[in-house]
This record gives sequence, structure tokens and C-alpha cells, in this order.
Amino acid sequence: MTSADPQEFFALFAAERRPDPYPHYRRWRESHPVAAFADRMFAVSGLAEATQVLRDPAFGHPEPEYLDPADRLPDQPVDESGRVVRAFLSLNPPDHTRLRRLVSKAFTPRMVEQLTPRIEELTASLIDRAPAEFDLMTALAKPLPVEVIAELLGVPLDDRERFAEWSHAMARALDPPFLQRPETQEPAVRARQSFVAYFRELAARRRREPGEDLLSALVAVSDAGDVLSEGELLVTLTLLLIAGHETTTNLIGNGVSALLRGPDSLKPLGTDGENAARVVEEVLRYDSPVQLTARTALRDTTLGEFRVPAGSQLIVLIGAANRDSATGPAPESFDPAREPGRHLAFGQGIHFCLGAPLARLEARVAFRELARRRPGLASSGTQEWNPTTTLRGLSTLPVTSG
Ligand code: HEM
Repeated sequence: MTSADPQEFFALFAAERRPDPYPHYRRWRESHPVAAFADRMFAVSGLAEATQVLRDPAFGHPEPEYLDPADRLPDQPVDESGRVVRAFLSLNPPDHTRLRRLVSKAFTPRMVEQLTPRIEELTASLIDRAPAEFDLMTALAKPLPVEVIAELLGVPLDDRERFAEWSHAMARALDPPFLQRPETQEPAVRARQSFVAYFRELAARRRREPGEDLLSALVAVSDAGDVLSEGELLVTLTLLLIAGHETTTNLIGNGVSALLRGPDSLKPLGTDGENAARVVEEVLRYDSPVQLTARTALRDTTLGEFRVPAGSQLIVLIGAANRDSATGPAPESFDPAREPGRHLAFGQGIHFCLGAPLARLEARVAFRELARRRPGLASSGTQEWNPTTTLRGLSTLPVTSG
């Protein structure tokens, strides 16, 4: 059993380690797969231990807090007892079960499947529009997921730019409190309010005139007489947008970056991009777009040799767990030919990513179309990493296609 120096833990996320935190994660994980780094604060980096935390119902989320009307932000959804309405990502059963079931009825694998031709068309046109030298993030990795999620939700074309801006501001504020920078908080709160107000109006329009989109499906969805309340609908829309946007951008960017650092550039994808699905899985494992998540102990419990008192917080280091030797041989290497194995990039258990089929589809199409349309792609400058930890990704990825 190890207790760890909190400074050593925080140093894992230091700015100078951002380009490659993995050797530091490795040392940390090998000396303490579970560590208590402060009173009732645990860091979990071993694959088995992280999987346990994500699967075991003893770990979950704190109950939504009551908010005094004076402290409420304009447009903040609260329930009839004045508690903050949270998206199901941070709710426990039975609320989580009920909401996830409702949303899954509207957001189906079939709906994702039907998007394939549109994603292919969009990807091809973004790549074809780019000059010989370009920034892969600006040209492809950023616009593709936001276009797809906006189209899926039925956001009018004219609003998409504002929409991307708000979503970016909110994604910046996803880091746990000990990693937060105060200057990201204010824009995130404003963006959340703008979003909720925007979706309130759009939902009202779709109620009057339903379309073929996910928003209309969510407005109309019911399960054994149960429906989404107005507040639930608004926070669900915001969740889908944030969860479905920057993460996929980073999967595409982290993947192309890993390929271009390798000896064979895009060749591992195959001449027709036929290996793209396998490469997507390896990128998810090797350089996870979501690096960490958090849980609270809902009762006194144990984790490995640790006693974990109720109310303790656990930071699950997904990015570190995915390089555990239990994921397969040579876990620190990027091996595009690796047989897909275990990883936690989409979480585990009841909160397993609802958008995983969509994320995999977008990344697969992006990699395949790059292999077909820009087979000679090479790095042409310095890659810059975003200053965030929970979401790991590049802000710029300069490339040349010769
Ligand atoms: C949950 C990762 C794309 C929607 C999660 C979780 C992870 C994750 C790790 C679990 C968090 C936890 O247990 O605390 C990713 C990654 C993506 C991605 C790496 C892209 C590469 C998407 C997309 C959507 C989406 C495209 C939807 C459009 C969701 C939702 C949940 C979730 C709704 C909550 C599920 C629940 O609580 O039951 N995602 N995600 N994600 N994701 Fe994703």
C-alpha cells in the first residue's frame, strides 16, 4: 500500500510534460497502481484497478446539489426540488438507467450507420479542399466532428460557428478542480448558459415542427410512458455536443500524429485505408483522447489493499491504465498492426461511451480518406498540444502532402 506525495501526482500534468506524459505515467503506475495522494483522494492508474472503479457500483457520483434560487444562473435547469439537473454521465442508477435508456432509444446504432455516406462526403471534401501544406487540425480534425454532431442534432447551418465556439469553451473547463485554470471558468459558464438558452429555443421549434434529426427524436422519445423533462433534454443535448465533439477531434489528431511519428507514415493504414478500424483502436489505447475521469466512493469500500472511506474521490487515469502491461505486449509502443485488446478509452461499465460507434466511424473514415487522398502525408512543423489534461489533443498539426 502506498501513499504518494501530492506534488509528485500534480507534476504528472505539468505543462512541460504535455507533449509526452507517458514515461511519467509509467513510473507512477509501476510504483503505485493505486495511490492515496491526499486525504480521501486516490489516483488509480493500474488497468485492473481502474476497471474495478469504473465497474463497481460502490463508486459513482455525488448526489446533485440543491441550489438556492439566489445562486442560480439564468437558464440553469433545476428540478422541482431545486436540485441542479445533471446529464446522465454524472448520475447514478436509477436516474442514470432511466435517462440512458431514453436517450439510447433516440440515438441508435442505426442512426449512426445511416450517417456513413454523409461523413464520407464531408471528409472527402474537407481533405480535397486543403492545399499541399496545411494544418490537419484546422482542415479536418476540428471541422469534421462538429459538422457531424451539428447535423445529427439538426442545428441550422448558420448557427454552427457559434455552436463550435461555445463547445470549445466548455471543453476547456472539464479538468478536475486541482488542474483548473481560473481563466477558463468564466467563458465556460457563459458558454453553458448560451447553449441551454439556444437549445431551449431550438427544442421548442422542433416540438412544433419535428424533423428527421436527433433533437426531434429526443423531444418525442418515450419509454413506458416516461419522457425527458425540459431540463433533462437541455442537459442531454449539451452533453452530446461536448462529449461528441472535441474527443473525436482529438482521436483524429492524436492518430495522425502517432502515424506520422512512425517510420512508415500512413502506410500502416493500407493503400485503400483497409486497416483503418484496427489503427483507430490502437490510437484509442495508445494516446487516449479522454485521459482521466473521476468517481466518488458511495460507501466505505476497498480497492486493492486500500480502505476507501465513503465520500473519497478517485481520479481514474485512463491514459496511464491504457499503457499497463495487461493491455498486451510492448504497451509503450504504437503498433498499428496490434490486435485490438483491452483499453479504457471509452470507459467501462454502465457509463461506457454512448457515442463510441459514431467516434469510431468518424475516425475510421478520416484515416481511410487520408490514406486514399494524401498517401504521402508527412509532418512539416512543430505540433502544439492543448493546455488541457482531461481532454488530450493537439491545437496544431502541420503537415505536407508533397
Ligand atoms: C461517456 C470517451 C465520443 C457521448 C464517455 C466516457 C468516456 C468517453 C471515457 C465515460 C466517462 C466516465 O465513465 O466517466 C469518448 C471518446 C470519444 C467519445 C474517447 C471519441 C473518441 C463520443 C461521442 C458521443 C459521446 C461522439 C456522442 C455523440 C457520450 C455519452 C457518455 C459518454 C452520452 C455518457 C454515457 C453514460 O454516462 O452512460 N465517453 N467519447 N462520446 N460519451 Fe463518449
